[in-house]
Amino acid sequence: MGNDSSKKVAELPNASKKDEHSVVDHDVESLLEANTLKEFYAGNPVGLFQEWYKDAFKHKVVEPFLMSLATCGQGSKPSVRVVSLGDVNEKGFVFGTNVKTRKVREIEENSHVAASFYWTKLSRTVRVEGQVEEFEDNGKTFHAWPRNIQIEEHSALDPDTPLEGTREALIDEMQSLMEKFADVDVIPQPDTIKVYVIIPEVIEFCQAYENLPHIRVTFARDSPESEWRYTFQNR
Ligand SMILES: Cc1cc2nc3c(=O)[nH]c(=O)nc-3n(C[C@H](O)[C@H](O)[C@H](O)COP(=O)(O)O)c2cc1C
Repeated sequence: MGNDSSKKVAELPNASKKDEHSVVDHDVESLLEANTLKEFYAGNPVGLFQEWYKDAFKHKVVEPFLMSLATCGQGSKPSVRVVSLGDVNEKGFVFGTNVKTRKVREIEENSHVAASFYWTKLSRTVRVEGQVEEFEDNGKTFHAWPRNIQIEEHSALDPDTPLEGTREALIDEMQSLMEKFADVDVIPQPDTIKVYVIIPEVIEFCQAYENLPHIRVTFARDSPESEWRYTFQNR
């Protein structure tokens, strides 16, 4: 991959044309402007993700950290749910969860996962495929969760417990936990929380336009040690 970004821009069909009829500012330039391209062509799609993630906050996308996370256990039946991205770093995409959940059971059977983000206001999606590893982040992901969720994670009741006959007991327990932690600034992270990082093997960026075909840029690598390859696709 060369550094001649001006040449690369010229090769992108329509990509440098701003969609004049968009209802929102897609900020298309952020894909193409020099800074992003530098990251882009240095073979660092995680860097490009970080640019788009910043754009999502800048444009006040609602809860841009929410990602759909798909897992698939040995039975080969996929399942998907929304989790919060805790961080994105040079290793990958970090999230936290309770160990007594379906996703953890499935991850323990099969560490391959897929995730996707949809940032409505920017008409952008990003999808990620890779393998997860446990990740030590010294409580960073857990402490970014809302305080009541942090406290709830101290419940003796597993997340999958059927609601019938347990709801009132849980509400009472929450009340006691709220009192217990009332004067505690930093809620301790319970042992039932696991933090994972998705080490990406595929990252795909898709920009939709109102009056132009979508553009997709897909990065793939064979292993975390390999070079990234990329392809551009229409639609
Ligand atoms: C806004 C929102 C954010 C959520 N964030 C997380 C999260 O970061 N981690 C998590 O394990 N579950 C999170 N959940 C709950 C999951 O969507 C899911 O219901 C739960 O983890 C159980 O999933 P599972 O049984 O498929 O493992 C969140 C739910 C909502 C509505």
